[in-house]
Amino acid sequence: MKYSKVRSLLGIEPGKKDDLRLAAFTHYLQNYHTPAGEFFREAAGQYVRQRSAELKLGYVPALESLLPDRWDVAFPPNVNPDFTFIDLFAGIGGFRVALQNLNGKCVFTSEWNKYAKQTYEVNFGEVPFGDITTIDETQIPGHDILTAGFPCQPFSLAGVSKKNSLGREHGFLDQTQGTLFFDVARIIKEKRPKAFLLENVKNLVSHDRHKTFPIILQTLRELDYHVHYRVLDGRHYVPQHRERIVIVGFDNQLFDGKADFRFPALPPVSSCLADILDDDETFTRNFTLSDELWRYLRDYAEKHRLKGNGFGLAAPGCITRTLSARYHKDGSEILIPQHGANPRRLTPRECARLQGYPDDFRIVVSNTQAYRQFGNSVVVPLMQAVGEEILRTLGIRENRPYLPEVASGPVVGQAELLL
Ligand SMILES: C[S@@+](CC[C@H](N)C(=O)[O-])C[C@H]1O[C@@H](n2cnc3c(N)ncnc32)[C@H](O)[C@@H]1O
Repeated sequence: MKYSKVRSLLGIEPGKKDDLRLAAFTHYLQNYHTPAGEFFREAAGQYVRQRSAELKLGYVPALESLLPDRWDVAFPPNVNPDFTFIDLFAGIGGFRVALQNLNGKCVFTSEWNKYAKQTYEVNFGEVPFGDITTIDETQIPGHDILTAGFPCQPFSLAGVSKKNSLGREHGFLDQTQGTLFFDVARIIKEKRPKAFLLENVKNLVSHDRHKTFPIILQTLRELDYHVHYRVLDGRHYVPQHRERIVIVGFDNQLFDGKADFRFPALPPVSSCLADILDDDETFTRNFTLSDELWRYLRDYAEKHRLKGNGFGLAAPGCITRTLSARYHKDGSEILIPQHGANPRRLTPRECARLQGYPDDFRIVVSNTQAYRQFGNSVVVPLMQAVGEEILRTLGIRENRPYLPEVASGPVVGQAELLL
């Protein structure tokens, strides 16, 4: 049976409520033939029984009869994978596209936003589990690589002082309690992946007056991982200036503290905005700013000229500013000039390309949600390049001589015209 048939038979509709059983069912379909499948089998069976009753099917299909023999989704699971991974704070699966491209198999996903879940399911045929803070780490299958783009929050001292008052020693892990990084750390502690790949905004380093980042590093080291980190710019792969901190770690217990890892040598900046623009003008005109919004942006830019705030008119031969999750509001960070009309925003598909998503990635949500999703996402080919180096360290990819690093010079042809 095709996945789409199973989907319509059981009326799979992600995001209606945080349905653990639905997530378990789709995870089971993806993993039934591996040890990971056992983690989901029981809840998957419960889901089938529950849906059969709700839909008044008059019978309960056997779980085995629902296993898809064809994955008619854009990014089906790899059949003979070289490694396994999990996708935490999965968003729309930027890490998943990257690591599936490297012949990896995802065995667990968590994302709580209902629209992101919809995008995820339609592209991968899997519904993510919801709130990671409620998921018991022992219920997550073992995996080689853990990926996460966790939201960053200041570490409150509340938990620590309580422990102190009880006269107990506390480690760095304790200091992260109540934050989403803590959930990443407790899963690493329990499952001990061979490696992890974490991504965050560049400002993580200075977050909360430089208090957050050292605690993150110390926590990961306390868990006995060898940690590497670097700020990398997506512009080496896509026509967008997007600097992110990438943190990679390897289990010291496995590598005896000698994991030989280097961040990828980044290729020269070669693509420009024109490469990703849609050429169907009758369609793109729909994204033209209204007179009112365009006037507002110009007035705002005029008022804040001295502070350097304003909007970015992106020239087609150049790269853009960073796409943010708030792009849906006014599109001010990346505007495309048009002849004889106000500038326009990028279309959601152009945003997908700006993050390195292939065109077969399906967009099924409203424009507002799609802008949020791509603005929150990772630059897929950059994560793939880092993933490839992780695989070399793990001995899953052959080693090759490292190419010399390309110096991070000025952005080629960057044109951000601040009016
Ligand atoms: C920066 S985005 C990650 C984007 C992702 N790497 C991608 O490629 O699309 C962080 C995601 O974490 C999700 N999130 C935040 N808190 C969560 C929680 N408690 N449980 C599960 N997901 C959560 C958000 O909904 C958001 O989609």
